[in-house]
Amino acid sequence: MYRTHNCGELRIGDVGKTVTLSGWVQKARDKGFMMWIDLRDRFGITQLIFDENSSSKELLEAARSVGREWVIRIEGEVIERSSKNDKIPTGEVEIKVAKLDVLNASKVPPFTVEDDTDGGDDLRMKYRYLDLRRTPVRENLFFRSRLAIETRKYLSGNDFIEVETPNLIKSTPEGARDFVVPSRLNPGQFYALPQSPQTFKQILMVAGFEKYFQIVKCFRDEDLRADRQPEFTQIDCEMSFVTQEDILNTFEGLTKHVFKTLKGIELPDFPRMNYDEAMKRYGIDKPDLRFGMEFVELNDIIKSQSKGFGVFESAELVVGICAKGVTSDYSRKKIDKLTDWVKRPQIGAKGLVYVKFEEDGSIKSPIGKFYNDDDLRAWGELYGAEKGDMLLILSGELDKTRKQMGELRLEMGRNLGLMKEGDFKPLWVIDFPLLEWDEESERFHAMHHPFTSPKKEHVEMMLNGDHETMKSLRADAYDLVINGSEIGGGSIRIHDRALQSKNFKLLGFTPEEAEAQFGFLLGAFEYGAPPHGGIAFGFDRLCAVMNGQSSIRDFIAFPKNNTGRDMMIDAPSPIHDEQYEELYLESTVKDEAEV
Ligand code: AMO
Repeated sequence: MYRTHNCGELRIGDVGKTVTLSGWVQKARDKGFMMWIDLRDRFGITQLIFDENSSSKELLEAARSVGREWVIRIEGEVIERSSKNDKIPTGEVEIKVAKLDVLNASKVPPFTVEDDTDGGDDLRMKYRYLDLRRTPVRENLFFRSRLAIETRKYLSGNDFIEVETPNLIKSTPEGARDFVVPSRLNPGQFYALPQSPQTFKQILMVAGFEKYFQIVKCFRDEDLRADRQPEFTQIDCEMSFVTQEDILNTFEGLTKHVFKTLKGIELPDFPRMNYDEAMKRYGIDKPDLRFGMEFVELNDIIKSQSKGFGVFESAELVVGICAKGVTSDYSRKKIDKLTDWVKRPQIGAKGLVYVKFEEDGSIKSPIGKFYNDDDLRAWGELYGAEKGDMLLILSGELDKTRKQMGELRLEMGRNLGLMKEGDFKPLWVIDFPLLEWDEESERFHAMHHPFTSPKKEHVEMMLNGDHETMKSLRADAYDLVINGSEIGGGSIRIHDRALQSKNFKLLGFTPEEAEAQFGFLLGAFEYGAPPHGGIAFGFDRLCAVMNGQSSIRDFIAFPKNNTGRDMMIDAPSPIHDEQYEELYLESTVKDEAEV
């Protein structure tokens, strides 16, 4: 028998019991006459004690021989600890060990397997099995498991059916690059791994399933960031005979359910904001509402003051935010640093103008020679600025400047510690544009994806309007944003063949291309497709955001690093010559290597 109890279980009431425990040696402390070992399993840590007076020489020797991460089994008596540890649930007791068996030895781990580790990212990923032994990482994955279970409970309780869709498919243009898989049985042809099960779930609606869900792996060959992995998981859903309102309510319900059951947090009803408003007030389609610092546009007042400051007067947009109570903290040097920050190529602003309303009533600004104190005070009034507040202002082309200010707002939020831990601010962003004009390729792109329907009242405009009209089409497309992170997105879909064909045409597909890629869907639409719509949540992101973290990596058991590598199995990797032949592939890389 390996265990009578686990390592997180024993309490003061168990004193006197003889128990068997198995686990890993977390650490040992040897005082010569006495020795302790912390024994760990997935349930917790229990302290073992050995002492010269009552333990045999052999037992002490055995205890001294074990190192960190060895696997041992012990038998002994539960006793009350003389010095208690209130930081762990088993901290009132320890085991006076009578017998110790080594079940397996361990090499010295390459990093410390403790809550705070000294291991770098790649090292931790290479030895992921050791990293997963650390409590914070293990807890993240246990949370993930509970989140999946609660999601299934909620959705199945609401009549959703879980259906698995295939992983070897034909590419769906979801916006990212596909991972492709060569087909041995079909020379020269490739499957693509799904970027999402989008078309399959729509087909399931045509098939009459009405409410579908799947917790499903998706694959996208895109540049990686903290909140993006090449393979990630979605809670993917689709519903028939529904309006946007039904979908938002159902998935607001899901979000509330998981916050309540897993975090004990009752979220109030989620506010909604349309896309245009989000861009105007926050410069981003996923505003972080944990703090204010909303944009105020200054174009009108600048025009009315007309002081000859060309940079502002000729700008398409002059926009600012107000940071409260910061003037004493924001020295010239600190503002210069912030200016350098907005000028980095990633942000791309040309400069940053500040107006400081000092505590002593004076006003400081580099544009003081154009605008006198009364002018600047009038600006301040638009923000409700008080003594101690500072305006930060950017100007330039509308979309770019909004984006830059959106970044600056977030940076200020971070600098001022305004994103409080444990604070959750969900938001539905709705009414996204249907299409986005891309100057470079001179064609429209789908803002969500090509299956998204224009709003009912815009269908006519879409079918018969001119090029410019297409830019103003709005869709029943929505995103769920929590604390500035895009958790999910979805839309009401087109279920009419003619409208879908028109959309493909606008997106630059010839009728032949549309038929070749999506003939199956267009065909299905001719056999009684019900009105339908859906949504997908990023499951990894939801895990991370619910735990106040921005990186999804530690919520994935075996994640990839920044260059898309699995450091543990060392993938991707070259394949054998025979595989190239079997798959009818020729490798330019291989040929070069041979030369
Ligand atoms: P979308 O592309 O918006 O929609 O994806 C839905 C959600 O999936 C998450 N997500 C990611 N998470 C981690 N790594 C990635 N690389 C990654 N890419 C996306 C995000 C995102 O909000 N088929 C549609 C949904 C629909 O219309 O029903 C879709 O996939 O949290």
